[in-house]
Amino acid sequence: MPHKDEFDLENVDGIGPKTAQMLQSKGIISARHLALFTPEELVDITDMTPDRAEKILRSARELVFGSRRALKGTELLKLSQDVPRLTTGVKSIDKLLGGGLEPKATYEFAGEFGTGKTQLCHQLAVTVQLPREKGGVGGACAYIDTEEAFSPSRIEAIAKRFGLDPQQALDNIYVIKVVNAADLEDRIKFDLVRLVEQNNVKLVIIDSIIALYRAEFKGRERLAERQQRLNYILDWLMRVAKVYGIYIVLTNQVIDVPLGYIEVKKPAGGNVLAHAVTHRLFLKKSREDLRVMEVLDSPRLPFKASAMFRITDKGVEDA
Ligand SMILES: Nc1ncnc2c1ncn2[C@@H]1O[C@H](COP(=O)(O)OP(=O)(O)OP(=O)(O)O)[C@@H](O)[C@H]1O
Ligand SMILES: [Mg+2]
Repeated sequence: MPHKDEFDLENVDGIGPKTAQMLQSKGIISARHLALFTPEELVDITDMTPDRAEKILRSARELVFGSRRALKGTELLKLSQDVPRLTTGVKSIDKLLGGGLEPKATYEFAGEFGTGKTQLCHQLAVTVQLPREKGGVGGACAYIDTEEAFSPSRIEAIAKRFGLDPQQALDNIYVIKVVNAADLEDRIKFDLVRLVEQNNVKLVIIDSIIALYRAEFKGRERLAERQQRLNYILDWLMRVAKVYGIYIVLTNQVIDVPLGYIEVKKPAGGNVLAHAVTHRLFLKKSREDLRVMEVLDSPRLPFKASAMFRITDKGVEDA
């Protein structure tokens, strides 16, 4: 029984029309979406028995990933050279990042207030829409705004600079407001996947990741719980990124850590965030409108390498 879309739920072994309908009523839209879930999560939302959940998830993964074999180093090298890099619209930053952002990785921009994290996110929400030959990927953006910082007028100004129609640019940005951690989890597990599958979303921004968790899980007693929830959401984001090949950007606040007689600024979120993100970048103020981006931790970028940029009325530009 062939279906028009190879990743329709009914193409998963063991899923008939009734189960497909039931899964859809719970918000699971395709075999690829289904394959993101763990058996425990599926039992949680559907009342399936653990055995059945495990069985259909295995079939879903088989359909989605096929028979995955291990890849040789040379094949991986070739694949890594072929990935489309997403431009930030700033030459010095693109160069620092090895040609722009890579998909299936998480970028963290951490820094004090006013260092340009939100401005850079706005710029990426525009550059992702550019065609390939201009450094974009012709995609839409999901902007998860936890700080009420999204600014349509900034998007208009940046879009004009890059030769895009401002209205169209705004139409291609899906702004998601979340109220707490549980809401964020739901939005990422369901709404975000729908936007990626049906609305061509290629870039996901969370500005900022930590604000919600700092506000909701207050005090030392709740730190372990906070870190666990943070870990959970980051893991889900990575699942989505890996299956759909999208770009992920998180912003993060800083904390003061005493070091002998002085205090140094470090990204918030502790070890959980440090391990979960792929590329950690630290943004600092220099004089006037000048800013510095510095590599704090990355498996591929040199430690402490840096790029200068400035914030202008047109967005983020080379210094
Ligand atoms: N239209 C504009 N023209 C020039 N500079 C601007 C404009 N809009 C914002 N800025 C500058 O951008 C900076 C704010 O950057 P941004 O909002 O990205 O900070 P942030 O790192 O996100 O801070 P926070 O931690 O508070 O969210 C300010 O210094 C501001 O002067
Ligand atoms: Mg901000």
